[in-house]
Amino acid sequence: METMGNLRRSHMCGVLREKNIGDEVIVMGWVAKERNLGSLIFADIRDTTGIVQVVVNESDDAEMFNKAKTVRTEYVVAIKGNVRERQSKNPNIPTGNIEIVASEFKILDTAETTPIYIKNDDNVSEEVRLKYRYLDLRKEFLQNNLKLRAKTSNIIRNFMADNDFIEVETPFLGKPTPEGARDYLIPSRVNPFEFYALPQSPQLMKQLLMISGMDRYYQIVKCFRDEDLRANRQPEFTQVDIEMSFVDEEDVIEINERLLKKVFKEIKGIDLEIPFKRMSYEEAMNNYGSDKPDLRFGFELHDITDIVKDSEFKVFSSCAKEGYSVRGINIGEYQAEFSRKKIDALQEYVKTYGAKGLAWIKVVGGEITSPILKFLKEEELSALIGEFKIEADGLILIVADKNSVVYDSLGALRRHIARSLDLLRNDEFVFTWIVDFPLFEYDEEENRLVAKHHPFTKPKEEDIEFLESNPEKVRAKAYDIVVNGDELGGGSIRINNSKLQEKMFKALKLSEEEIESKFGFFVDALRYGTPPHGGLAYGFDRLMMLLCETENIKDVIAFPKTQSATDLLSEAPAEVDEKQLKEIHIKLDK
Ligand code: AMO
Ligand code: AMP
Repeated sequence: METMGNLRRSHMCGVLREKNIGDEVIVMGWVAKERNLGSLIFADIRDTTGIVQVVVNESDDAEMFNKAKTVRTEYVVAIKGNVRERQSKNPNIPTGNIEIVASEFKILDTAETTPIYIKNDDNVSEEVRLKYRYLDLRKEFLQNNLKLRAKTSNIIRNFMADNDFIEVETPFLGKPTPEGARDYLIPSRVNPFEFYALPQSPQLMKQLLMISGMDRYYQIVKCFRDEDLRANRQPEFTQVDIEMSFVDEEDVIEINERLLKKVFKEIKGIDLEIPFKRMSYEEAMNNYGSDKPDLRFGFELHDITDIVKDSEFKVFSSCAKEGYSVRGINIGEYQAEFSRKKIDALQEYVKTYGAKGLAWIKVVGGEITSPILKFLKEEELSALIGEFKIEADGLILIVADKNSVVYDSLGALRRHIARSLDLLRNDEFVFTWIVDFPLFEYDEEENRLVAKHHPFTKPKEEDIEFLESNPEKVRAKAYDIVVNGDELGGGSIRINNSKLQEKMFKALKLSEEEIESKFGFFVDALRYGTPPHGGLAYGFDRLMMLLCETENIKDVIAFPKTQSATDLLSEAPAEVDEKQLKEIHIKLDK
C-alpha cells in the first residue's frame, strides 16, 4: 500500500468545472467505477462532494498504467493530474464537462467487493444496508440527508441564540421521567440495587432551569423511550427542546412559527405563511378522527348518528342507543376507483383498527348501490346524500362503533385512501396547531385518568374550577404542531405553583408517597418562586424527514435502530460477561 507521500489534496472531486481546465490538481477518494479500454483506463473518483472522471494513458507512464490496472471499485486512491475538457461530455453530473489526465496515481487502500452497491437505487435488503451502514452511508442521498441535518441544526442554533435562548446540557443519567413511555434503565455500580433512567425528555430539568432564572433554554438532545416502534419512531431520537419564562401560549406559538418559517425558507426555499392555521382538539377529532390530521386533502368525517338513529339497520340504531356514534366519509368522484372488490379490501383495512365492518353507499350518476340499501328509508337516504353534499357521484364509507374505534378507523381510512390515490405529495407542507387539548384522558388499562401531555401541564384558567368536580371537561394550555398527518412537536404552559401542582397530582390519583418518591424534588422546587413558563419540543428526526422528503426515519439518522430496537452494525444489545454483571449486582433470571 502507498502513502500519500508529498501529495496534498488540492480540490474536492465534485467541485471541478471548466474554469479549472489547464490546472494541475490532486484529488482523493473512492473508485466509483473503472473501465479498461486496452491502453486507456477511465475511473470515476468519488468523495463527499461528487464524482470526477480520471483518465490514465498507457503511453504517459507504463508503470502508473499497470498500477491503475489493478484498481477495483471502492479502492481508495490519490491522483495528481491536469484538468482538460472532456470529449464525450456527461450532462448528468456537474463535473461532466471535464476530466483529469493522471500524471501520478497512488493506491492508498484496497477494498474487497462490497456487499452493497454504492448507488442511491441499490435495492439490497434493509437488513444488509444496516449491517453495513458505513457503506450505505457512502450513498449520495444519505450523505445529502446528513448534510441537510447538520445545516438545519445550525440554522436552529443561530435562531435560538439570536432570540436569547441559552443552550444548556442536561444529564442522561437521571431519575425516571414522567413522559408515559417505558424507561431505559441503567444499574448503578457504586449504589447497589439502584438505577438511573435515561431521559425520555429533559422535561423536569428544563423546568428547573426556569426556576433557576435561566429565562430561555434550548437544547438539541437525545431522548430515550422504550416503546413499540413505528415508521416514524426510534428508541433513541433527537428533540429540539425549548423552554421560556414569563410567557403564555401565544408567545411560545409565535416564536416557534418564526423558527419553522426560517428553517423552511433556508432549507427548502419555501415561504410558509404564518400564523399557521389553528384547530381545536375537538374539531380535529370530529372532522378528521385524529389529533394529527393530514390536511393535504379532504374526506372529512361527518357524524350521521342523528340521521340513522332509528334505522332498521340494527348496527346503526343500536350504536345510537348505546351512546356510540355512526360516522362516515365521502370520497366523491374518486368512487370510480373503487370496485366492490376494492371496497371489500377497505373493510379488511378498517378491521385492523377494531371496526366491525364498513358500510357503504355508492352513488353513480344519481344511481345508488349499497349492501344496506334495503334497510334505509327514503328520507334517511336523502338526508345522507344531503349531509355529504353528493350531487351525481360519491362513495360514503361508514363505521358505527365506540367513538374511539370510529375515530381511529375512519381517521386511518381517509389517509389510506388518499395514499392509494396518490394524493399525498411529500413536497407539500400543511402546518396546523392543534390546541385546546383535554388535560386528562381515560386510560382503559389502568382504569383511571392520566395526563394527556404530562402532569406539569397547566389547565386553562377558566377550567381550573372543574379539576375536582368534572376533570374530563378541563382543557389544557397545550399545543401540538402537526404537519401532513404527523405530530412534529408538542408542548404546553406549565403549572408554576405548588398548590395547583398538588391538585393536579390528586386528580391523577397519585398517593402522597408516590408524589414524594417520584417528584418530591420537583414539588419542593416549585415552592421557592417559579416564573410562569412553558415550552415545546420538536422531534428533530421528524423535522428532517419532512425536509428530506422521506417517509423513513432511518434515512435521516446516521446509525438507526431496527423495528426491534437492535443495531445490526455493532450487534447491540448484547450479552455481557458474568464479571460485569457482578459489578453491578445483577443476576440474570434466564
Ligand atoms: P413529546 O412526548 O410530545 O413531548 O415529544 C416531543 C416530540 O418528539 C417526537 N418524538 C419522537 N420522535 C421519534 N421517535 C420517538 N420515539 C419519538 N417520541 C416523540 C415527536 C414529538 O412531538 N417534554 C415534552 C415537550 C414539552 O412539553 O415541552 C415532550 O417530550 O415529534
Ligand atoms: P351485514 O348485514 O353484517 O352483512 O352488514 C352489512 C354491511 O354493514 C356490511 O357492509 C358490513 O361491513 C357493514 N357493517 C357491519 N357492522 C358495521 C359497523 N359496526 N359499522 C359500519 N358498518 C358495519
